[in-house]
Amino acid sequence: MNILLFGPPGSGKGTQSALLVEDLGFTHISTGNMFRQHIHNGTDLGKKAKEYMDEGLLVPDELTIAMVRRELEEQRELDFIFDGFPRNVAQAQAFEQLLAELEMNLDSAIFLDVPVDVIVERLSGRRVCKNCGAVYHIANHMPHEEGVCENCGTGPIYQREDDKPEAIKTRLKVYDENTAPLRELYERNGRLVVIDGDADEATVYRKIKSQIQTKKM
Ligand code: AP5
Repeated sequence: MNILLFGPPGSGKGTQSALLVEDLGFTHISTGNMFRQHIHNGTDLGKKAKEYMDEGLLVPDELTIAMVRRELEEQRELDFIFDGFPRNVAQAQAFEQLLAELEMNLDSAIFLDVPVDVIVERLSGRRVCKNCGAVYHIANHMPHEEGVCENCGTGPIYQREDDKPEAIKTRLKVYDENTAPLRELYERNGRLVVIDGDADEATVYRKIKSQIQTKKM
């Protein structure tokens, strides 16, 4: 079973994906995490992607689609959660073609609905482990030992460049112009599921899990 988790930046896609991986054994494909890994490893793709990411802009489609293709070709038989891809209509069309080519299906496109004021609060307080990508928040979820990640035992814990105020503004604009139209697209093809993401993590997760289990029956 393959599902897409989409929604505005900071709507909780990464947080909910981590729960789905742990509880239901999905494999997480996050294009944001993949690009950050390339940046961390100093690859050419990472260098190109960083120029766009730090500003809150989308990395060009051809780089993004080629990266996802490489990943899927190697492990098409797994159950995937796609997080942050596709992110515009051109990517959604390329994604459909790729799935057809690899004889894979997309079962549900789950939209996390979160109001903009909550998003800004979540993004500006987010902190992330540089080593493993585990996600924290300064208001309610930080490691017990300062700077030491509870997931991988290392760190450091840092603020993403694109979680600073100017980049957040750009990301919200980019989201409205590019990604928001996907909601209508997935509604038209009967895959859209809307989940109220403005609740605590466990509540949002229960709703997502229940949708997935209904779909499986
Ligand atoms: P990406 O990493 O995908 O960023 P994003 O979509 O903007 O999403 P975020 O990671 O910011 O948020 P999230 O929804 O995962 O929220 P999270 O769970 O962390 O992409 C980054 C960049 O990479 C893009 O701007 C672009 O440049 C590039 N890129 C990536 N994919 C691309 C593509 N397909 N095409 C082109 N370019 C691409 O939660 C946020 C915070 O809220 C955390 O602190 C968390 O603890 C907290 N939180 C989460 N859930 C809750 C809750 N229920 N209640 C309270 N707090 C919560």
